[in-house]
Amino acid sequence: MVVVLVLVLIVIGSVAFHLFSPWWWTPIASNWNYIDNTIIITFWITGIVFVAVISFMAYCIYRFRHRPGHKAAYEPENKRLEWWLAGSTALGVGAMLAPGLVVWNQFVTVPPDAGEIEVVGQQWLWNFRLPGADGKLGRADNRAVSADNPLGVIRNDPAGPDDIIISGGELHLLLGKPIRVHLRSVDVLHDFYVPEFRAKMDMIPGSVTYFWFTPTRTGTFEVLCAELCGVGHPQMRGTVVVDEADAYQAWLAQQQTFSQLMAAVEPAK
Ligand code: CUA
Repeated sequence: MVVVLVLVLIVIGSVAFHLFSPWWWTPIASNWNYIDNTIIITFWITGIVFVAVISFMAYCIYRFRHRPGHKAAYEPENKRLEWWLAGSTALGVGAMLAPGLVVWNQFVTVPPDAGEIEVVGQQWLWNFRLPGADGKLGRADNRAVSADNPLGVIRNDPAGPDDIIISGGELHLLLGKPIRVHLRSVDVLHDFYVPEFRAKMDMIPGSVTYFWFTPTRTGTFEVLCAELCGVGHPQMRGTVVVDEADAYQAWLAQQQTFSQLMAAVEPAK
């Protein structure tokens, strides 16, 4: 009887914890409502199944408890019950998987009008690169990384000199403009994560990964690293500011290009 009570309390406690929990998502600041919806669907399905299974267990323990003089009858087969269980499980699993596939398709399909930026992770800070006046990011390679060229931009690529380099600073983005984020790492695995944008992606040394999103409200947001990357991992923070057009242009005008950075470190000949 104690076990029945404990099981019932686990169900009530779990539901109450979720109803009254102070921890919930940060208010969303991107177009990825779909990601939230998918998680909510999974949350409801697994929640209902959890309550049903634990309650059923409590019921069985109570209903079929030991009583003197009663004996269990062995009736192992119930085809109808088995089909019913298999069918409803398949339906539930399908309902959890299908929305994820729809969202994933949107996640990997970058809109054609999206702008481009690059985020480069390194132990333990965030660097950013914007395409500059020509709208194209120059080629980059980790083998070209040096103290003067922290992102490894290839010096003789014509698309490179006007790229804007922000080393360990603050990234600004334009409100309402879809953006494709190219991700690189110069050392180990990192993961660029702004909780308010929902979307995130690993950065893998030696390859370029990507994701895209549209900032939907102005504000200052914290960048976290979501991949354990060494002792400085919890301190690997950065800032993303979403601006209206005027503020964005004012910020952009203050940034340094790759050629300005190179000129500063190479003494004039
Ligand atoms: Cu970078 Cu954790």
